[in-house]
Amino acid sequence: MDHTTIADCYKNHICDYFHRMGGAGRYVGYEDWHPAVLTLGCAYQAMKVRTFSELQPFWSRLPLPIMSGCDDLRQKTLKLIRANIDDTVLAVPFLKWVEIEIFETVKRSYGHEVATIFTKKMAEIKNDLGLPVTTKTVQPLLMPSSVKVDVLRPDVSDIVTQDFVEHCCEVYKLDHFGDHGYAHWMRVLYNGRILAAETGANVRIVELFALLHDTHRENEFDDPEHGPRAAAYAQRLLDGEISGLQFDLTPNEKKQLLIAIHDHSKPMNPRKIRQLNIGVCWDADRLDLQRVGMRPQPHDLYTRYACESDVIRSASFRAQQIRL
Ligand SMILES: [Fe+2]
Repeated sequence: MDHTTIADCYKNHICDYFHRMGGAGRYVGYEDWHPAVLTLGCAYQAMKVRTFSELQPFWSRLPLPIMSGCDDLRQKTLKLIRANIDDTVLAVPFLKWVEIEIFETVKRSYGHEVATIFTKKMAEIKNDLGLPVTTKTVQPLLMPSSVKVDVLRPDVSDIVTQDFVEHCCEVYKLDHFGDHGYAHWMRVLYNGRILAAETGANVRIVELFALLHDTHRENEFDDPEHGPRAAAYAQRLLDGEISGLQFDLTPNEKKQLLIAIHDHSKPMNPRKIRQLNIGVCWDADRLDLQRVGMRPQPHDLYTRYACESDVIRSASFRAQQIRL
């Protein structure tokens, strides 16, 4: 089992129950975040983080119909998750990724507001259970007007600003519906942020790489010079030659970013990479290969974390599902 199995269960079974036939499964007081909290509650119970009665912080936030009505939806969900459980995984770190997957699904299905309520409820619940809570208060990117695809909408940061993203979208001459446009950048950004958090890589380099590395492609197929072209452009950007955009990187950060961008279009054995930041940039990109029908292979990846089957499965799921 990987966390996408539970996210799939949320989307395909639980949400479906409430939405099919014009919302026949909904009850008085139904709110769009209820199914997500129910799914996580069942996952926590199935993975024995706590007993049913100890998981009151979940159940007390859900209305009675979802707890004991709805055609036994709660009991069925628990059974479904239990049937797919792998006893060898550590529950709490595993459930952190389940929560991220479900959060992204909620955000795409219902919007940022409902996703924020879900995050808030989960933070309250974890606090009540004495589990670690991470809270984020940043705003998500707005979709650039030139992009008409439904994609991941990562949070903004010092590097990933609305202006910079809009700028990269304008620079890119190919179709954002293709394999190397905005949707791909957002997934590389998403992968890169996870990898940076897990490995300690420099997230500023990783974020700049995600947005810039494919901006200067001239075709979707064989274009080995797109790395050097993007690196030349990045050099101008870092030198302050692009009006309105300024990035305050150290000389060493600049050097590593430019190498990562310049060389990413060359065939390269990951064992020859000597720098974690460059390895993480390339792993973030390669973890998105499933969008073109290729499964990322551990021998093509640099970090041990990226090689984990769960990480590859999860990134591949996003590559296929989160596109249009
Ligand atoms: Fe790429």
